Amino acid sequence: MADSRDEPLVLGIETSCDETGVGIVRGTTLLADAVASSVDEHARFGGVVPEVASRAHLEAMVPTIDRALKEAGVSARDLDGIAVTAGPGLAGALLVGVSAAKAYAYALGKPLYGVNHLASHICVDQLEHGALPEPTMALLVSGGHSSLLLSTDITSDVRPLGATIDDAAGEAFDKVARVLNLGFPGGPVIDRYAREGDPDAIAFPRGLTGPRDAAYDFSFSGLKTAVARWIEAKRAAGEEVPVRDVSASFQEAVVDVLTRKAVRACKDEGVDHLMIGGGVAANSRLRALAQERCEAAGIRLRVPRPKLCTDNGAMVAALGAEMVARNRAASDWDLSADSSLPVTDPHVPGRGHDHGTHHGHHGHDHVHEVSKENLYS
Ligand code: KG4
Ligand code: ZN
Repeated sequence: MADSRDEPLVLGIETSCDETGVGIVRGTTLLADAVASSVDEHARFGGVVPEVASRAHLEAMVPTIDRALKEAGVSARDLDGIAVTAGPGLAGALLVGVSAAKAYAYALGKPLYGVNHLASHICVDQLEHGALPEPTMALLVSGGHSSLLLSTDITSDVRPLGATIDDAAGEAFDKVARVLNLGFPGGPVIDRYAREGDPDAIAFPRGLTGPRDAAYDFSFSGLKTAVARWIEAKRAAGEEVPVRDVSASFQEAVVDVLTRKAVRACKDEGVDHLMIGGGVAANSRLRALAQERCEAAGIRLRVPRPKLCTDNGAMVAALGAEMVARNRAASDWDLSADSSLPVTDPHVPGRGHDHGTHHGHHGHDHVHEVSKENLYS
């Protein structure tokens, strides 16, 4: 079936954090993007509570899958594969998605693809801007990760150039928002306040930008502390905290470093495209400054629309479709969730498949056959 290989119809399931995402794509075309979020249930704790997230995934899973199939106007029987985030993420939350994906794949007689959450954040841009250029430089910034990644093939080769040595960029937004009593998650609120503030009002530190610092690593913990101290000093003096100026100045410090290092990496590696993904890529100032600096450096910028930047199932489906299109081995039925799956493993073929170094297994690289006698035939 040359057709389905070119434009595979794939359903993707994402449950690594607090979003139950189910997406359906045909090749690089987005057909459905259903998301049920438990973010409101975590808000009063100021962060995601793993047990609460797992339970919410369990409750939302089947309705969200049904909603996605309906939205796409396709039958589960027509799928060419089912993809699921195998890691990294919260172990219990991942397990709900992996178990659901296995159950559906087994019942429907479809191949199962365990994929990497981070590679999915990159691959999702194919749904917006078409096939990813090879190589692609990606700046991945979310609540759990901040990395500069170079990929020559998103299904098999993702190389980390640098990463945060302490807090992730999104985590810094969330922590600063907490100090400002702005609620959780902090990114979107700070983004909004910052629009009315002065980014030069307060000179906050730019982490790891000294001449002897690692060129592509990030550090946001010192910045977060500097912001907290500045706010404390204001409060101690009985003065009002200028939330808009603090938001704008803090945000500027984050996006200045992110864009500066990403553009430098592109120049050093001779890559003329930069992709930005992850929840923080929804930040309006990051998008604007990246555009400005990329243009000045002759680099083409690709950033998916905000809804595709935050966690969703479409990104998992997009990477799954690429796995099918490139004839990658499906995962075995013993696929497990790996909360610390390395970024260098875009794909988890399972035991018995010879695939790189992650689990160190050396077997034959075959696509498993699934019984066609399924519940739906
Ligand atoms: O990718 P994502 O949805 O989940 C993770 O894998 O972490 O990213 C969530 C993170 C949160 O820290 C949130 O505050 C941040 O992305 N975020 C933003 C914006 N929207 C979401 N940060 C800055 N500006 C935004 N507009
Ligand atoms: Zn994410």
